[in-house]
Amino acid sequence: MQPHDDHPHVSGPSLWPVGFAVGIVVLLVGLIISWAIAGLGALVALAFAFLWVRDLTAGTGLADAPEVEPESAAAASAGPVLFDQPEPAPAERFPRSKFLELSTLGLGGVIGGLVTVPALGFMVAPAFLKQGQKAHDIGPLTDFPEGKYVIATFMSDPSQGEVSRRTVFVRYNGQVGTQPSFTIISNHCAHLGCPVQPNGPLDEQARKQLADVTLIPTVSIAGFGCPCHGGQYDTEGNRTAGPPVRALDRYSFSIRNGHLFLGSPFSVSHVDGAGATAKIHKWTLAFPGEHVDGLESWLYPIQPPH
Ligand code: FES
Repeated sequence: MQPHDDHPHVSGPSLWPVGFAVGIVVLLVGLIISWAIAGLGALVALAFAFLWVRDLTAGTGLADAPEVEPESAAAASAGPVLFDQPEPAPAERFPRSKFLELSTLGLGGVIGGLVTVPALGFMVAPAFLKQGQKAHDIGPLTDFPEGKYVIATFMSDPSQGEVSRRTVFVRYNGQVGTQPSFTIISNHCAHLGCPVQPNGPLDEQARKQLADVTLIPTVSIAGFGCPCHGGQYDTEGNRTAGPPVRALDRYSFSIRNGHLFLGSPFSVSHVDGAGATAKIHKWTLAFPGEHVDGLESWLYPIQPPH
């Protein structure tokens, strides 16, 4: 007589958890680089989660009773068996192995969630919080003569004092229709972030102090230069020489009650034309040294939200 196999049939390993994990990874990457990719990841994760749960719950039904092998022909012809056959034990409705599997998965999920959700929250949430630069009054429009750059320094967060001081180069380009046009360039070098300087003399006599804002008009400049590694930019902030990878960043602006307010900074790959009619190739604010267009932008590592 062949020994009976007492172990119930166990299904092979499922691929659903792997698909679920892949979906979660795509979702997290999508949260950083694209909403479409995040949506795709969520769909994949949900689909595989459904299949996984369905597989797990399908196995908790009544298990088949183990089959009893037929007696061999010789044994059958030998007549009735003289000892009592034990009744096969009824199959467990909720096998202990299934209970252990589900409770281990559930416990693992809870612990994993407790560990990863706060970390993910700190990583991803800042991208969704309104962290744009607070509009900052840098002075009345009359302090910005047409066609000349004025160096404006201001505290981006006065409660933090001088460490929050920032510098921008502001040029009034004249009226465009009924609206005044301004070019506002950041002094952060697009190579490694050193402070760039105007290539030309300043009119120190005309220096002005307005609350935390200092305004120093330039006399005439031939672009901007970086003292760190020799990066050079033209008067629109386009890179002309040296290691910087793009044009200088710019700021949006608004006019309120005759004053110029700085808005949020943004990055610029390059500028076509000049002044009020310039075509600005604008991008989300990038770190110094980061390409914003072309093949290099695809090769650059994904940056955390900032
Ligand atoms: S930081 Fe400006 S050229 Fe390197």
